[in-house]
Amino acid sequence: ASTAATSVSIFGDISSQLHGGYSHPLARAWQAERQLTKSMLIYPLFVTDNPDEEESIPSLPGQKRWGVNKLVALLQPLIAKGLKSVILFGVPLGPNVKDTLGTAADDPSGPVIAAIRLLRRAYPRLFIVTDVCLCEYTSHGHCGILHEDGTLNNQLSVERVSDVAMAYAEAGAHCVAPSDMNDGRIRAIKLKLIEAGIAHRVVLMSYAAKFSGCLYGPFRDAAGSQPSFGDRRCYQLPPGGRGLARRAIHRDIGEGADIIMVKPATQFLDIISDAKEIAKDMPVAAYHVSGEYSMIHAAAKAGVFDLKTMAFEATEGILRAGATIVVSYFTPQFLDWLET
Ligand code: PBG
Ligand code: ZN
Repeated sequence: ASTAATSVSIFGDISSQLHGGYSHPLARAWQAERQLTKSMLIYPLFVTDNPDEEESIPSLPGQKRWGVNKLVALLQPLIAKGLKSVILFGVPLGPNVKDTLGTAADDPSGPVIAAIRLLRRAYPRLFIVTDVCLCEYTSHGHCGILHEDGTLNNQLSVERVSDVAMAYAEAGAHCVAPSDMNDGRIRAIKLKLIEAGIAHRVVLMSYAAKFSGCLYGPFRDAAGSQPSFGDRRCYQLPPGGRGLARRAIHRDIGEGADIIMVKPATQFLDIISDAKEIAKDMPVAAYHVSGEYSMIHAAAKAGVFDLKTMAFEATEGILRAGATIVVSYFTPQFLDWLET
């Protein structure tokens, strides 16, 4: 009888015995629903209108502004290591390039269109995403065309932003990703793609849940896109706005988005998880933004933690929340760190 009693108590404890299940590195990897792979990563590139430029960005360690003439050599070793995709941002540096309409955004000889054409030729298998916005090109630094009172003119902005998206798509971008946050831009872009007969060959990725805040600072240093007055809080989402983000995701799916993006990532893991639930039949992307990246660099430099370990913890958290695409400045390092 005493033996039976012992085995009953052992049986009672079985569900508490978890260690065996993750006792080996491979068994630990199997605990994740999604494992980080190279094909999930999109590498952001800042391309300037000075063709031979190669300039470091102090607040974004390890990243540079590149001239078009530098891109092929920059990407060659990365592609050899498994780089699959880049997202291009144009950085006009020339004098008097910026105006109230962001005219330079779709200049056929500007850096983004030149880079699309060049990269399509040099690396036919590289997937080219283009960020679509006006803030790098407007004299006021806002993401659209303004009314006299300084607020966004939504109608004119949507017309302009969708024209810019079309110019990039027609130049050969595989994917256009509007980050401007004007209402109705996804629908406007999709309709223009259909009308031009190229909707079947262009992925439309919406920055659907893009929150305002301080984490885009290093990007704005890199791109020179700090607004000259005010801020972006009337078009980027308020950080507490979970319901608003859900509405924006629903809306952009209805307007024809092919991929939904959430941004920033680490501070908004609940939103990534919401996006995966709402957009359950679509890929969800997360943008691990400039401030998140620079923060990890700063803390690693201060001895808080090891850079590589934190880069993995942050990125794996993003995957666990539901993303399967990650826009990351760590991409070149992950190409060294990951096997596949
Ligand atoms: C342009 C744009 C921004 C980012 C992506 N596209 C900056 C902004 O909205 O001010 C931020 C990316 C990053 O911080 O890495 N609208
Ligand atoms: Zn913008």
